[in-house]
Amino acid sequence: MCGIVGYIGQRNAQEVLLRGLRRLEYRGYDSAGVAILNNKANPSGAAVLQIKKRAGKLKGLEALLSKRPLKGNLGISHVRWATHGIPNARNAHPHRDCQGRIALVHNGIIENYEQLKEALAREGHTFCSQTDTEVLAHLVGRFYRGRLEDALRAALKKVRGSYAIAVISRDEPGKLVGARMGSPLIAGSGENEGFLASDIPALLDYTKEVVLLDDREIIVLERGKLSVSNLDKDQPLKKKRVKINWDVSSAEKEGFPHFMLKEIYEQPKALRDTLGGRISEKKDAIILPELKPLEKALASMQRIVIISCGTARHAGLVGKYILEQYARVPVEVDISSEFRYRSPILNQKTLVLAITQSGETADTLAGIRLAKECGAKVLSICNVLGSSIPRESDAVIYTHAGPEIAVASTKAYTCQLAVLYLLTLYLAGLKNALPGAKIKQLIAGLEKIPQELEKVLQNKKVILECARRYYHSFGFLYLGRSLNFPTALEGALKIKEISYMHAEGYAAGEMKHGPIALINPHLPVVCIAPESRVHQKMLSNIEEIKARRGIVISVATAGDKLIAHHSNHVIYIPRVAGVLSPLLAAVPLQLLAYHIAAKRGCDIDQPKNLAKSVTVE
Ligand code: F6R
Repeated sequence: MCGIVGYIGQRNAQEVLLRGLRRLEYRGYDSAGVAILNNKANPSGAAVLQIKKRAGKLKGLEALLSKRPLKGNLGISHVRWATHGIPNARNAHPHRDCQGRIALVHNGIIENYEQLKEALAREGHTFCSQTDTEVLAHLVGRFYRGRLEDALRAALKKVRGSYAIAVISRDEPGKLVGARMGSPLIAGSGENEGFLASDIPALLDYTKEVVLLDDREIIVLERGKLSVSNLDKDQPLKKKRVKINWDVSSAEKEGFPHFMLKEIYEQPKALRDTLGGRISEKKDAIILPELKPLEKALASMQRIVIISCGTARHAGLVGKYILEQYARVPVEVDISSEFRYRSPILNQKTLVLAITQSGETADTLAGIRLAKECGAKVLSICNVLGSSIPRESDAVIYTHAGPEIAVASTKAYTCQLAVLYLLTLYLAGLKNALPGAKIKQLIAGLEKIPQELEKVLQNKKVILECARRYYHSFGFLYLGRSLNFPTALEGALKIKEISYMHAEGYAAGEMKHGPIALINPHLPVVCIAPESRVHQKMLSNIEEIKARRGIVISVATAGDKLIAHHSNHVIYIPRVAGVLSPLLAAVPLQLLAYHIAAKRGCDIDQPKNLAKSVTVE
């Protein structure tokens, strides 16, 4: 959830580190720090380890460093999302050992840090922070005998927990060392330089080819040399370089006031990229070569269990409707953190489908590990190449949404939906569950979605009007039925996340069973009611709300005049097959949440208490 950037080379390390941290700030942002080695500062010739840390957003650290820049070409840096100890400068990373010889940054949690801390304290170590990470720095210092990777290896043998680490030593000014266990760490190298980072966007300015570390691996970067070995054995491992197809502009705001708005507007392109190459030339079949490793398993599969969290779970809920309706496979959808702590019934005939933007969500990762232990096959839908969940799955279908920087998920969600439609039609074909003509018709509809979405994005007048009128209301209720019940959940989640207003998503048919008591003129009700087989039922719900003096904002199909008689506001979306409507209906709800949050002056891209990828339980 925090971010790491490390650099060794000829460039000014401070610049590289800050630029990288800016790209990662969305991962965690309550404090930030850098450690840079300066070889020339000390007349004795010894390198000087300089550390600067600041509580608050990265700009605080940037301001500090612009006044007093740190010189040097080797350094590590970190943006923190606090787990152990409040977010202040003392608890910010990097942390040092007793002698001030080692500096270390860490993502993850050291579970046995209290025992380690007590043991080190008995040996005379003193600590100045409340963090688990400082213990690690002391432990590396304790084992240090002049070779950093050996000290790190010895220290990590004592540690239980998860980590991505970058560490440097004052005594080895030509070396940057990293290690990974459960938290992502990637490396890149150029001529006479090397980079280490927790996430791809930090490296996009410098390299498009990266080495992805696996669990229990150590990496040593020297100027012009990169070597990886196993934590247990000091023997070099051969690692492949992976090509990244994200470009730098995808990690810039490009004139938009917020990444979230930019990402909302990127959805037509993201969907084109996700659908691209996955539809046959004759437009009558779905091509997913990614599923080859699951060929046999899919033929005998009896059930799908979808696991995911938050927004990805809402995509999973839409997946249930379409997979059951068209591929005729029974589907269960579970929240990853619930799935892993019950005793799910899984076997070789179960396909566990993990949906995740980041590929690093701790509960979903634990869920797929459990699934594999029980003999189930695992397929993942993921946006981040080479992240942990796809690497541990039997097969992966990548969404091609590009990097999603804003904490609130938008384009990743609609791309997850697109992949679920592709998967449904693929399985429907495989299982002969749908006539060819119907598959063709749905494919034609799916292919048109990006252009229909462009129309949705041009149509913001009513959304702005609703944001203006209701940004100070008591809260929001979101109602939808069938496939758009998850859309209601997602709309409500977006409001909660970025505008800090209470919002509740409900299946409209459940309204009478409780939430109807809430209806009053201060709680606008957003009714997702595009044309579909439950449209008439939604209209009845809308009438019930109006009869109780409720305010209704409807999302409806263009040309639906009837709904306008019963609603205070109508946001129209283009006419598409009802089954595809979640792909369009989600977008005005994203925009509504965005504009409400903007009116309330909220920090839209980095809402309080949230982090982009939740790598802790
Ligand atoms: C909401 C949001 C979160 C994530 C959830 C799962 O806007 O972004 O609810 O959807 O934390 O994250 P991933 O998809 O990375 O597993």
